[in-house]
Amino acid sequence: MVIKKIAVLFSGSGSNLEAILEKVHAKVFNGVLIEVALLITNKSDAFGIQRAKNFGLDTLVVNHKDFKSREDFDARLVKEITNANIDLTVLAGFMRILTPVFTDQILAINLHPSILPLFKGANAINDSYNSDMALGGVSVHYVSSELDAGKIIKQRAFEREKDMSLKEWEAKIHSIEHEILPEVIVEILTK
Ligand code: GRF
Repeated sequence: MVIKKIAVLFSGSGSNLEAILEKVHAKVFNGVLIEVALLITNKSDAFGIQRAKNFGLDTLVVNHKDFKSREDFDARLVKEITNANIDLTVLAGFMRILTPVFTDQILAINLHPSILPLFKGANAINDSYNSDMALGGVSVHYVSSELDAGKIIKQRAFEREKDMSLKEWEAKIHSIEHEILPEVIVEILTK
């Protein structure tokens, strides 16, 4: 049996982490066993830590504030990921800008709540909702040193319904995220 190990990095609620744990972790796809082997957060109060505990998994807290520079923080992440023999790193709501220290050494994918290249940055849900776009959506892309700009792997769009509220827009985005991110992980690791 081939075993592929993933690391998941998150900063907050961790609903996407939970989707990965439910749909992908410790499951076999096409003869490949996918294992969430490393969890890292930069926030000691991230709710995702609790979600992981419910699956019997511990999360390593690496607080970016404990490091002198972005590069020093990234070097620590690289060390943890390399030591754990990770095949694919997944950024699931990991709200840190990464430098080439990380992006040149680690194969990673990121989840973004818009149809890239539209609405890059941390306010994509609000920005896309407040735009004239009749479509919203989600992207999964490879991580590069340019923010939200690496090669796009998969996107899924939805139509704006009449009088859709921001809350409904956001809920639709999250429900698509919970499908598309596990799908991409399986696709990459079983290729
Ligand atoms: C998601 O909307 C993701 O696209 C963005 O951050 C959010 C994380 O949500 N980058 P969660 O922590 O997985 O619930």
